[in-house]
Amino acid sequence: MGKKRGGKPTREGKPKRERKEGDASGWTTYKRENQVFEDYYKAQKIVPEEQWESFVAALRRPLPTTFRVTENTPFTAEIKKKLQIFAQMAATTLDDGTVVEPPKNLEWYPNQGGWYYDVHRHALKRNPELKEFTRFLQVQTDSGNISRQEAVSMIPPMLLRVEPHHRVLDMCAAPGSKTGQIIEFLHANCPAGENPEGMVIANDADFKRCYTLMHQIQRLHSPCILVTNHEAQRFPWLKAQPHELGMKEGDVKEGITKAGKVTFQFDRVLADVPCSGDGTMRKNPDIWDDWGVHKSLGIHKLQLSIAVRGANLLKVGGRMVYSTCSMSPSENEAVVAELIRGTKGALQIVDVSQELPLLKRTPGLHTWKIQDKHGNWHENHADIKDREVSKKIPPSVFPPTAEEAASFHLERCLRLLPHQQDTGGFFVAVLEKVAPTWVSMLKEDDKSEEKTEEKVEKPDDAAKKPWMKKMYPEAPFQPFDVDNAFKSQWESIKQFYGIRDGFPTDLLMTRSDNAVKITLVSRGIKQIWTADDRKDLKIINGGVRVFNNQPGKITVGCEYRITHEGTQHLVPWTTERKIQIALSDFSTLLTETDPLTCTFSEKAANAMAATSKGCVLLQIDPTVEQPWGGYSMAAWMAKVSCHFQVAKEDLEMLRSLARHYGLIPEKEEKREETKAEEKKEEEKMEEEKKEGEVKVEEKTL
Ligand SMILES: C[S@@+](CC[C@H](N)C(=O)[O-])C[C@H]1O[C@@H](n2cnc3c(N)ncnc32)[C@H](O)[C@@H]1O
Repeated sequence: MGKKRGGKPTREGKPKRERKEGDASGWTTYKRENQVFEDYYKAQKIVPEEQWESFVAALRRPLPTTFRVTENTPFTAEIKKKLQIFAQMAATTLDDGTVVEPPKNLEWYPNQGGWYYDVHRHALKRNPELKEFTRFLQVQTDSGNISRQEAVSMIPPMLLRVEPHHRVLDMCAAPGSKTGQIIEFLHANCPAGENPEGMVIANDADFKRCYTLMHQIQRLHSPCILVTNHEAQRFPWLKAQPHELGMKEGDVKEGITKAGKVTFQFDRVLADVPCSGDGTMRKNPDIWDDWGVHKSLGIHKLQLSIAVRGANLLKVGGRMVYSTCSMSPSENEAVVAELIRGTKGALQIVDVSQELPLLKRTPGLHTWKIQDKHGNWHENHADIKDREVSKKIPPSVFPPTAEEAASFHLERCLRLLPHQQDTGGFFVAVLEKVAPTWVSMLKEDDKSEEKTEEKVEKPDDAAKKPWMKKMYPEAPFQPFDVDNAFKSQWESIKQFYGIRDGFPTDLLMTRSDNAVKITLVSRGIKQIWTADDRKDLKIINGGVRVFNNQPGKITVGCEYRITHEGTQHLVPWTTERKIQIALSDFSTLLTETDPLTCTFSEKAANAMAATSKGCVLLQIDPTVEQPWGGYSMAAWMAKVSCHFQVAKEDLEMLRSLARHYGLIPEKEEKREETKAEEKKEEEKMEEEKKEGEVKVEEKTL
């Protein structure tokens, strides 16, 4: 008898497969059937009756891969062009008659930036073009030029309508796919060398996931990001004088303290809350077996408390998006209805029927049914006889009255169903704050806050508690004060690199008293740092590191080196130590460990000969065709040689991009690796042919 392993379903996790004891091949697949699930959703009428079969059939199919192209990079236009070429490939027919289509544009996603493909690995074998496509995808994903993301998960940030000056709070952000989109919107149309005023706080309650998020987001080299680690329902109130937040008198609408301070509020809030995740069944088939109403009922209160905090932290006039990848009304319409009810209409659902017009959606429900885990249906909370059952069902999960539902406009919510455009299931509500929520919602919240505030540990306490030191290895941020504490360091940097007047030195921060690393942040991040004067924020990391002082390393001229991620921010501001190189020089730097300067193109070699030892900025001749023209990187000038100064993984990423664009040859060992991979693949296919493709798991009793 099979023993089940694998744990709880996760929202953004990978599809799970289970090893079944006693099965020679080991791997099993799921039945993808659950009558209780079907009965529940049939009763909710989330799908018109005539579409039921195609809805369930879609849920049973594995989820196709979707991805989006990162905007505003030198590679964006070229990648989109290449994708159009891949989209013209002929379809491939497999032995079993399955037709594998080439990648397709997600038609509802703007600027041909969203893509969809459904390639079985057997098809890769048959079609070399498809194989080239998947390699292309791999290289561009590793480089951060493409992000794999579920199609429906791309929707909330798009409906958030982020502008470059906005302050955004992403309440439950890890692993960060939506934060990445928000950052792209913040940087939209920003000229080179300039950074947007705005910022995004990417918060998550899970400490480890905060680091995954940071890793993901660092690829974007943005100064507009701050990663924090709080339970979203207790995200701290930060207070500052209005002028410190760039506010004028008329801007202050609510939350003013006796000392004249205002609470830091956000223009945009994304509450992509934890949920039961039954919309991800196609990706996480174990949910078929694990599904139960208790999961939705159990998580409703947390979702509501996160949404309430989000509403209070939102500015009047601001937009908040509430989303889940669950299809259940208890986690969706019920939360939104209670939020509107509780804020006495200060929040309104926005009609977004004209936004993303090609996106197929169904309207939110006005009514639904509540079932307990024993399968009994309940009309309202007061009628539940069993005390144990009553305790497990929050009163706010019940549907609103017909009158309330109509005035709340629950139909303006969006439910995305798997069969509509071959996606996962998802729910989105776009809300606008039209009046202060402070008075109506705070009373209850404040009490819980008082209790929890004492419990919240701060990075500042790290010095006192060894376990905190482990969790917060880095000290809190402080300004890199170029007029006082760090005057001499800045003078040295300024002179060595010839940094022009006007460089926003007030946006430089550091985390150590001897300023080992210097980070550039956006004005919005600086403001939030100012508002956090009690140091309530548990900051994991933020901004983009632009300078590094590496104690113990050779210092020539200046003890600070420019970082790889900082180059794009510094190139427009530096007047010294900039060397223009040819594309062939770039290839030389990628293939040779420490190439002699005399081996570079004449112009570059002359410039190098005239430059003293130390860190330099190299820029590929801007007249070279995109994507490489103007590309810049930090390097180290030795006496007669020059080499890149980038972290190992960044160098590998550059090499693999350059290989892909034919600037440097394929690695010999890579070819060997590929051959070995192909052999393995062939053996696997042979094995599968013998055994038959799908093995149905015996249900564990
Ligand atoms: C649906 S996932 C978020 C996905 C993310 N927005 C994205 O697009 O990549 C939900 C996240 O909520 C986090 N979480 C769970 N409880 C939380 C809480 N009370 N406050 C903040 N985050 C929480 C989980 O760690 C998880 O990363």
